[in-house]
Formats: sequence, C-alpha cells, structure tokens
Amino acid sequence: MAQPWWQEAVFYQIYPRSFADANGDGVGDLAGIRGRLEYLAWLGVDAVWISPFFPSPMRDFGYDVADYCDVDPVFGTLEDFDALVADAHRLGIRVMIDWVPAHTSSDHPWFLEARASRDNPRRDWYVWRDPAPGGGPPNNWIAAFINGPAWTLDEATGQYWLHSFLPQQPDLNWANPEVVAAMHDVLRFWLDRGVDGFRADVVHNIGKDPVLADAEGPGSRFPHVGMNDRPETHEHLRGIRALLDAYPGERTMVGEVYLLNTRLVGPYCGTPAAPELHMAFNFPPLFEQWASEPWRERIDVTREVFDPIPAWPTWVLGNHDVKRQRTRYGSEARARAAACLLLGLRGTPFLYMGEELGLEDAVVPEDRVVDPGGRDGCRAPIPWTEKAPHGWGAEHWLPFAADAGHRSVAVEREDPGSFLNLYRRLLAARRASTALRSGSFEWLPAPAGVLAWRREADGERRIVVVAFEGNEEPFAGDAFAGYRVSIASDGVGEGEALAARIGADRAFWLEPE
Ligand code: GLC
Repeated sequence: MAQPWWQEAVFYQIYPRSFADANGDGVGDLAGIRGRLEYLAWLGVDAVWISPFFPSPMRDFGYDVADYCDVDPVFGTLEDFDALVADAHRLGIRVMIDWVPAHTSSDHPWFLEARASRDNPRRDWYVWRDPAPGGGPPNNWIAAFINGPAWTLDEATGQYWLHSFLPQQPDLNWANPEVVAAMHDVLRFWLDRGVDGFRADVVHNIGKDPVLADAEGPGSRFPHVGMNDRPETHEHLRGIRALLDAYPGERTMVGEVYLLNTRLVGPYCGTPAAPELHMAFNFPPLFEQWASEPWRERIDVTREVFDPIPAWPTWVLGNHDVKRQRTRYGSEARARAAACLLLGLRGTPFLYMGEELGLEDAVVPEDRVVDPGGRDGCRAPIPWTEKAPHGWGAEHWLPFAADAGHRSVAVEREDPGSFLNLYRRLLAARRASTALRSGSFEWLPAPAGVLAWRREADGERRIVVVAFEGNEEPFAGDAFAGYRVSIASDGVGEGEALAARIGADRAFWLEPE
C-alpha cells in the first residue's frame, strides 16, 4: 500500500529571518526563500516547513503573531507567498507553514480588545483570573524565557492574564468556541492558498485545566513543558484533523508536543477511529547525548509508541530552538554520523536549515544578543557565498557562524567530500529506496558502542550502522555478509565490506553487493 506523502518525505525547516535575504536589508525574506528553491530541489528535500512570517512585533521573532492572515513587511507580501508556493509546487516541493495556536502577540487586535474592559466581548478569548486571595498571581506557574510568574497583572482591569511564554504572548482560551472557530478560519485561509500543511507550535498547550490549579512537584511549573497534557487538547485536535481531512491532497499537521516523555507524546496522534495529529515531534531523542545505549532505548521506545497506526515516528536532531549538532555533539565527525542516523531511521526526518552545511552555532557577542530565550547561535544566517557578507546585506541581523566562507553553499557544492554533498547523497539514496523511506526496522547484532539495523521493504534491504563509541570487539556473525558500504559519514571505506573494527563517531549505509 502506498504511504501518505508525509510519511515518505524529508522535511527541511526554514527559519525565514536567517535563510536568504533577497532585498539586502539583512533579514531573510520570502523572496529569498523563493530564490533558493532550486537549491532545495538540488539538495533533494521533499517539503519545507517555514517558521512564522506573519505580522509581529518580533519579541519572539514571529512566534508572537499580531495577524495570522498576512505577511510581515520585513518578509514581503501575500503575493510573495503565493509565488513561493507556486514555484515550490512546480519543483515538487511541498510547503508547510507554522501555525501558532496557543498564544497571540499582545499586539494582536483580539488581545487589545480583550484587555479594554472586563465586559469586552473578546475578554474571554484569553485566560484571565483575579489575583490570589492574598494578592499576587493566581497560581504558581512559571513562564518560559522570563523564569518568573506566567501571569501579568493588567492594572486597568485588575486581573491577570496567563502567558506560558513572554508577557507579550498571552495564551488563547481554547475553551471558548469563538476562539476555536477563529483559529479554524486561520487554517482555512492558508489551506485555500494552497499550503500542504502546518507545523503547530506548542500545540499540547491549547487545552487547559479549567481549575488552573497550582502545579506540584519540582520542574512541573512550566506550562509549556511537562504539563498541560489535557483531554481538552485531544478534543481540539480531533476537530482540527476533521478540518484538514475535508480538504483534498492529504494536508497534514505536525504538532510540537513539548512533553519530554515519548509515551506521553504518542497519544497526540489519536486512534485509528479518532485520529488527531498526523505527526508529533518527539523531542527526547533531540535532547539525548551522543551515546549508543541511550540511543538504543530512545529508538526502542519510539518504535513501541509510534509504530502502531495511526501514529508514525518523526525524527528531529535540530531546530531553531536548540544548539546545532556540531556544537551540541562536539565534533564534525559526530555531526556527519548524525546525518546518517537521522536519515536512516524509520520515520519522517525534519532537517533544520544549515545542518546540511555542518554549521556550528555562531558566537554572538553580548551587544548583539536579541533573543529572550538565548537561541541566537543556531539562528545565524545561512552563508551562500564564500566572501562576506555571504549573500546577505552588510547589516545582517545576526553574525555568521565561524568559518562561514568555507561552510558556504557555494564552496561546499563544489567539494564532493563536503557535508553538503554527504547530505545530498544520503537524501538521494533515501529517495531511491523504499526500504529506507518506509521499510521495516530490525536491529542487527553489533559490538558494544555500535548500533546497527536493517531496513526492508518488498525484498529490498539496506543496513545502517552508527558507531557512537567505536568498537573494541569485531563485528561477528553474517548479518553483514554480501553487503558493501555505499555511503560512509567520512567517505572512508565506500565500496568495500564493513571493516571488523570501526572507529568512534562514524556511520555507514550499506547495500547488497
Ligand atoms: C515553540 C517555538 C519557539 C517559540 C515558542 C513560543 O517552542 O519553537 O521558538 O519561542 O514555541 O511560541
């Protein structure tokens, strides 16, 4: 049976401020993305997810939306967006956009109205509470970024509003059916414009405990992580799924379910009779160290939770919120091996822009720090050309990562051994193999420090070997007999049988001789 497109696709995340700058103002834009679609087609990705480009005061760089149905002038216009989608589709690239359902910007007209008075018709579109009996915030919840109360007092009306993130990101009240209808309308607006799907920002945070009780236990007071695993959310997701399913073309949603326990994430895909998200980000592997045994467990739990239909695994090793792989894992060798890992697992991979170049996090001097969450390093602009400013306006919004010239697209494209060409080869091999795209997964015996598995579909077989620590003992048994290395993370040993001892921080894809 043919798999739905999103199960076979490799997604590429574009953080639009930092991808490509067509007008030279130092901030990336939609026309910039459009101008680089050929690059993405050459690279071999199937779909893009574009982080928010909607009008915003940019306190959280677009994750604070002031109008869900327009484009911020810094990124261009709706016409630019339409042209981008048309070109992408012509090149066979699907377009997924970010939908930020859990909160708006405090500049959104809805919030301005809600704040105007206690009896404003939109008051209840947000979450308001009276001060605690002795004064102060209504409960003990803590907001992300500010590490202080998740409540801010509106002096004029004497009540607090809830914000899981910045005070300027008030949480929407999804218990109000008007909010649900308005947010459904946002989905329809973009579906009608031809988008193939959505990445739903912190979507597990839309349903709320009506009592808003104090959180108990250490580390549990942040509403955006670890809590708000609520039945209300599942009901909302079923409604959203029904809306998407009513459109032709398998429109899809991947939800950011920021619960750092894979077993809690799985249920957000729903049941066969009542499906919810098509896919859910599963972040525990993203935060796992580079080590074989913890990774084996991550993979096993993910298989257990996401293999049963209608769930399907996703794999994420980078995004605009975390340190880049080279920085996080500590070396180029590991980041190369991580590419073979990410694209060799069973499930849909999400690749963060710039990982294919092997970029490190930029070192951002104090006076250039702009993000309240300390995430500027992974958001440095993509270097397109060797010479500074690497295809950007001279006044680019963040500094480049070290070595940007050598890590530029122009330079890496010409070097067959580059990171970029490793990714390109992996993507091509994956696209050409049903076993790799959607085949089964079976562990193979491997020495300590090494994980090896076989992917299989319709009699076609591929093997993936990732040496996290390297092996003291040789490979034994005949699981690898008759296979040769088609791709090695460092290019060494290709075309040969797998060596009995392989060093640490290397990975291999094997195919039958
Ligand atoms: C998500 C986004 C992050 C944003 C937050 C608030 O976690 O990935 O960038 O700051 O939600 O919207």
